[in-house]
Amino acid sequence: KILILDFGSQVTQLIARRVREAHVLSEVHPCDVTDDWIRDYAKDGHLKGVILSGSHASVYEESTDKAPEAVFQLGVPVLGICYGMQTMAHQLGGKVESGHKREFGFAAVRARGHTELLRDIADFTTDEGHGMLNVWMSHGDKVTELPPGFKLMASTESCPIAGMADEARHFYAVQFHPEVTHTQQGKAILERFVLGICGAKPDWIMRDHIAEAVEAIRQQVGDEEVILGLSGGVDSSVAAALIHRAIGDQLTCVFVDHGLLRLDEGDMVMDMFVGQLHAKVIRVDASELFLGKLAAVSDPEAKRKIIGGEFVTVFKQEAAKLTSQGAKGAKWLAQGTIYPDVIESGGAKSKKAVTIKSHHNVGGLPEQLGLKLLEPLRDLFKDEVRELGVALGLPPEMVYRHPFPGPGLGVRILGEVKKEYADLLRRADAIFIEELRNFVDKESGKTWYDLTSQAFTVFLPVKSVGVMGDGRTYDYVVALRAVQTSDFMTADWAELPYALLKKVSGRIINEVRGINRVTYDVSSKPPATIEWE
Ligand code: XMP
Repeated sequence: KILILDFGSQVTQLIARRVREAHVLSEVHPCDVTDDWIRDYAKDGHLKGVILSGSHASVYEESTDKAPEAVFQLGVPVLGICYGMQTMAHQLGGKVESGHKREFGFAAVRARGHTELLRDIADFTTDEGHGMLNVWMSHGDKVTELPPGFKLMASTESCPIAGMADEARHFYAVQFHPEVTHTQQGKAILERFVLGICGAKPDWIMRDHIAEAVEAIRQQVGDEEVILGLSGGVDSSVAAALIHRAIGDQLTCVFVDHGLLRLDEGDMVMDMFVGQLHAKVIRVDASELFLGKLAAVSDPEAKRKIIGGEFVTVFKQEAAKLTSQGAKGAKWLAQGTIYPDVIESGGAKSKKAVTIKSHHNVGGLPEQLGLKLLEPLRDLFKDEVRELGVALGLPPEMVYRHPFPGPGLGVRILGEVKKEYADLLRRADAIFIEELRNFVDKESGKTWYDLTSQAFTVFLPVKSVGVMGDGRTYDYVVALRAVQTSDFMTADWAELPYALLKKVSGRIINEVRGINRVTYDVSSKPPATIEWE
């Protein structure tokens, strides 16, 4: 396995992720572990290499961390990244100076010295025949003098020592960030280190992660009871399946059904978790409560606040019942927090990362309920969570579902929310999604559901005139929305085939009595948003 020592960079978990992608087990530990801890950790011979992460700190700040000296005495390869390079240089006798200006962004790095790490890895070659890499840089300090035994491995115009290596001891270091995707060859470089230089075996798979995570959950929880808020979304579902695998009936899921879910969604969640996984799930049918609170409210922000607030209230009531059973009461609250949530909230493990913005998933509830927090997915990225879900036996259709907002249909029914509207919308939306899943694009062989990032139907509470058979109709309108996006910050409307739109429109108007007109939303984000409210 590979040990990653975390100096508090926002992207440390990306290093772990790249190592996992190379099918090698990695563990992230804080940089201030002791020499004894490191020696003990390496004792069984499974440790193949160490990676020192970046940090936002400077080597010259008073409180700055160093790598435990033992790291350099174990006889295993070490890779320093950014701050990790600087501390390696500093600790092994080189020189680091505070840069006069921060370097942040793309840089072209020239590989030097034919090292094992960068050999034959290049994005392009200059006219003079130098191999060049396009990399991502983010640093203030830089190494200005190589430690004894090291040679130059890479340089840029503004950073003459952008990489260094002591190949006899297998110590390598780069000033740039190979773990981010902006560094095009980053994956190849990290693979070279882990598989080539460290000689780690690429035999780690998601199933191993399950075994490790199950063991960790059992260790953490012991024989205590755990509660989890199940929403039907990917993260809470995967967390529930994983925890259930670990502790079975010690887990109770609370599924608050606010009545604003998609067609049959509540039953599907129950069927999945109770019918198939045999997990304990308390389904709270709170649709009347929510609809009551939403009556006569048409402002989008007010609606969101009501739905979010009620959700917490109902969940807390259920949780209170489960915790108030004395010694037998629940002691843990499990959440499907994933790594991007952790980064957003600035809660990265090392307590050193800087807060960017707080996230709804993290903090708050556990303290109010007097519960300890269990977050088994907090080191994983979304696509890894999906892979884990499939490996745990959740249906791929569920795990690869488009995102669905917490307030559900509450923000897809414009203005006041009524049960009648929700029922019409659910049926129309189910037809749209069914046809997206049916229609295959010939060129790519993929369905239009997979070719779109998010697709749904919006209910417009206006009536228009139509004709059906011999009669006049005066019914509601729906809008179809389908977008393509990589990050949901910007999005293009999808150019769905006319044949697909025609089929969907025909089916909705014929099958959903009460809707007589279907429109297609051709607005991009920005200036429109993906949801209508
Ligand atoms: P917008 O409409 O802001 O949506 O372009 C971007 C993405 O966020 C989802 N979304 C939400 N998700 N609670 C959520 O959990 C919300 O209140 C919410 N509002 C929007 C939206 O579905 C899209 O994927």
